[in-house]
Amino acid sequence: MKFDLLKEKRKIVMLTAYDYQMAKILDETGIDLILVGDSLGMVVLGYGDTKKVTIEDMIYHTKAVARGAKNTPIVGDMPINSCNTVEDALKNANRFLEAGAQGVKIEGNKPEVIKALLDKGIPIMGHVGLLPQTAERYRLKGKDKAEGEKILKDAMELDQFGVFTIVLECIPESLAKKITESIEAPTIGIGAGRYCDGQVLVINDMLGFDEDFSPKYLKRYTYLGREIKKAIVKFKEEVLNETYPDGEHTYH
Ligand code: KIV
Repeated sequence: MKFDLLKEKRKIVMLTAYDYQMAKILDETGIDLILVGDSLGMVVLGYGDTKKVTIEDMIYHTKAVARGAKNTPIVGDMPINSCNTVEDALKNANRFLEAGAQGVKIEGNKPEVIKALLDKGIPIMGHVGLLPQTAERYRLKGKDKAEGEKILKDAMELDQFGVFTIVLECIPESLAKKITESIEAPTIGIGAGRYCDGQVLVINDMLGFDEDFSPKYLKRYTYLGREIKKAIVKFKEEVLNETYPDGEHTYH
């Protein structure tokens, strides 16, 4: 599949999904891309970070997302240690494609691996800035000059290799703007400000499942965690006071 994310001359919209039902809902909204992110580790599997997520976890969830998203391109996130060698990267990227993804995301600048996959025609989404698979802690990256220059250089290299888009995570918007203006591939920001070509959020975060996680960039568009709790408490009350099931919800 060839991605042409800028063809409509508007911002690109990407969200994550990890299961069939959410993918089906996202598919009905007409967003541009669904990322099966390794944020799966935190929001689905309950780990503190993405470092324990395996290729098996990712393939299992990519298959579920592919069953729900019939029209929206899916990108599978290559988890930690899945592309340490060219051989592993090719094998694992192909597993994502067989699971229903149209491309894969690779964190950081790994020239040998990225070039090998691109040579085989596998669409690659780059990812620079904060790199959760190797970061010691989650923080803004690229504020100091040297770090900012390295991120810009990596983005420019990835662009030259031919990635179809690059995620910019947690960097100052001035740096994101500079990268966006310096490269051909569209940029998709998360915590990277207003000047990226598109935006991505983790679906559970933007839907407000967990109110304890509050990075500055995160806007919650609803508070589903609260709504779910309210519904469960009501169900519990109605079972206890025997108002559920009533006649309407009973087979006669
Ligand atoms: O794993 C993920 O969800 C991501 C996004 C934050 C871009 O990499």
